[in-house]
Amino acid sequence: MTDTPPTTDRDPIVLAFCCHFCAYAAADLAGSMRLQYPPNVRVLRLPCTGKLEVNYLLAAFERGADGVMVAGCLEGQCHFLEGNLRARRRVERAKQLLGEIGLEPERLEMFNLSSAEGPRFAQIATEMSERLARLGPSPLRGTSAPGAADFADLSVPPDPSEPSDHPHA
Ligand code: FES
Repeated sequence: MTDTPPTTDRDPIVLAFCCHFCAYAAADLAGSMRLQYPPNVRVLRLPCTGKLEVNYLLAAFERGADGVMVAGCLEGQCHFLEGNLRARRRVERAKQLLGEIGLEPERLEMFNLSSAEGPRFAQIATEMSERLARLGPSPLRGTSAPGAADFADLSVPPDPSEPSDHPHA
């Protein structure tokens, strides 16, 4: 990511929960390919999107994210078999809860992509940022843009006890 302007307090903050094996690698690839995507998209790495609980998604909004994207492996290619399917169900549940508290459910979206899809990652990140700009700031956001430290503990570190003999390792 190069030549992008710094984030301002008016830019929507999009938190991207990215699976280590696919979307995080795709984001890295986008960077190596010098593909631009908005700097207000903050990438958090997960060992698998299946680790993401509904309360993490809601916490991201409570801490000031205007939108959240969850990016996991392609269906059928999760390294932990069904983590991405579990994540999709949790995203759907969290969307319902957002609607119940008066936030637009489209502030949250799940995507599936492979590690080779750097250009698609940049496109998804840009589209989410544009969607959030159209929706306007979240009513839960404070007057200043939240920083990386506000979200740091929502990242799930790799668990050394996870099985390593999964089919796509
Ligand atoms: Fe990538 Fe499960 S979503 S390992």
